[in-house]
Amino acid sequence: MSLPKAELHLHIEGTLEPELAFELAARNGVTLPYADTEALREAYAFKDLQSFLNLYYELMAVLRTEQDFADLANAYLARAAAQGVRHAEIFFDPQAHIARGLSLGTVVEGLWQALGDSERDHGISTKLIMCFLRDESADSALETLQAATPYLDRITGVGLDSAEVGHPPLKFREVYEAAARLGLRRVAHAGEEGPPEYITEALDVLGVERVDHGLRCMEDPALVERLVRERIPLTLCPLSNVRLRTVDTLADHPLPAMLDAGLMCTVNSDDPAYFGGYAGDNFAAVHRTLGLTEDRLRELARNSFLASFLQDDEERRARYLAEVDAYEFGDAVS
Ligand code: ADE
Ligand code: ZN
Repeated sequence: MSLPKAELHLHIEGTLEPELAFELAARNGVTLPYADTEALREAYAFKDLQSFLNLYYELMAVLRTEQDFADLANAYLARAAAQGVRHAEIFFDPQAHIARGLSLGTVVEGLWQALGDSERDHGISTKLIMCFLRDESADSALETLQAATPYLDRITGVGLDSAEVGHPPLKFREVYEAAARLGLRRVAHAGEEGPPEYITEALDVLGVERVDHGLRCMEDPALVERLVRERIPLTLCPLSNVRLRTVDTLADHPLPAMLDAGLMCTVNSDDPAYFGGYAGDNFAAVHRTLGLTEDRLRELARNSFLASFLQDDEERRARYLAEVDAYEFGDAVS
């Protein structure tokens, strides 16, 4: 739990806990179609990615003001700090908010209120990654990148999320090329529900430096070999995979086999308010259920910093890695 780690796959909208959702709903005069937090939690029985996304987008209705986004991010950062997170590269979904009539400025300025003071307030360094919704059009993604022009000093990279199957990376070639020209880092969800071919396409067509999830690479030995050879980091989210039924149970998760294959895996929380755990909870779960050794847990933590977009501050990366190396596991983990 307290092992120093970076979180590289975290949707800020997916950190909206039921309590905060109701608080923001009351503050903004939004009526949620759930009687209380318990009734809302009962809706967290997902059968696949889409059934989760439906609720995820529905609950965003409570986020209206800069203050709401600041409160959301501060709540996440406080929880993450308590679970050993030292650095967080945070996704957000601008199109989902713009479609509800908010401006991109409201979202970015609000998040930045929290992220800008995160080192002081939470001891966590941060970066922001703007995701395009792959079930929206390529033109909409291009418009979103255009709208982000005034905020590019606060945005480190671009990502690709939402419903995967039927929306291959190829659709977003142009916007990723434009993002690269702007000096933005590139990641994309691929191989969560979609086939291994989407992972290859994300690498070859979009030029991504990390693959979010990438779980289904295990179906293609040649792809695994390539990912190992090129040391492409995968941002795995074990508890998410269980809740979205990508794997049957946590005990069936291929993480141990992926590490044995030499893949550069990291462990992350995805949408922790919905999937039953933050970054430390995911580490604890894979330790408990998959029997990962201390050496493996340390490798995962080291990978998280090695895969971070900290090229502008290698001194910091070295400091974080030294913290991982110096970490002493307590009796709870052996
Ligand atoms: N948006 C939020 N969480 C997501 C996930 N796990 N996959 C795709 N899109 C998402
Ligand atoms: Zn995700």
